Amino acid sequence: MAILRLGDIAPDFTTDSSDGTINLYDYLGDGWGILFSHPADFTPVCTTELGTAAKFKGEFDKRNVKMLALSVDGAASHKEWIKDINEVQNTTVNFPILADEDKKIATLYDMIHPNADNNLTVRSVFIIAPDKTVKLMLTYPASTGRNFYELLRVVDSLQLTANHKVATPANWKNGEDVVVSPAIATEDAKKMFTKGVEEIKPYLRMTPDPTA
Ligand code: BEZ
Repeated sequence: MAILRLGDIAPDFTTDSSDGTINLYDYLGDGWGILFSHPADFTPVCTTELGTAAKFKGEFDKRNVKMLALSVDGAASHKEWIKDINEVQNTTVNFPILADEDKKIATLYDMIHPNADNNLTVRSVFIIAPDKTVKLMLTYPASTGRNFYELLRVVDSLQLTANHKVATPANWKNGEDVVVSPAIATEDAKKMFTKGVEEIKPYLRMTPDPTA
C-alpha cells in the first residue's frame, strides 16, 4: 500500500455509517472535506471530540467543508454511542461517523500505526480540497484530543492561499496580515496587493489579508 502524502488524491471509498451508506466523493461533491479518525467508540476523549466537532459544524458549513468522523467500530455501535455523546456533550452529532470494522479505510489512509496500537486508529485528520487532493494531514496520539479551532484556522489558510499568492505566518488568524508568496518579486507584489506591501527582508514581505 502506497503511503498517502500531501497533494495526493484522497482515496475514494463506500462504507456504512451512522447515517447509512456513504460514498466519499458523492458526499463531498465539489466542496471541501475534513475526515478525522477516532480510536474507538465509547472512549472518553473521543466523546469530547465528537461533541465539540458537532458544535463547530456551523463554522465548517460556512466554509463549505463537509465533516466525516471514523472509528473502527460498526454503524450500530456508532448510533448507540451518539446517544451518549449528545447527552453528555449537550449537543446533537450532526455529521456521519463512518463504520470501518474491516479497517479498509483505516488502511487506505494509514490511520493505524502499529507501534502505537495494532488495532485502533490514531487521531488522524485529513483536509480534502474540492479537486480531491489531500491538503493537510495531522496525526495525534490517542491520549490527546484535537483542537478544532486549529482545524478551522487551517481551513481558512488553505482557502485563502488557494485563491491568492500568499502564505500565512505562524499563529495567523483570519483577517491578519499575510506573507507574500516567495515566488513573487517585490515590485510585482506591490502592483498585485493594492493594500500595500511591507518589505521586512527581501524574502519576507507582508501584506494585509487581500480578502479582509
Ligand atoms: C479516548 O478516546 O479517550 C481514548 C481512546 C483510546 C485510548 C486512550 C484514550
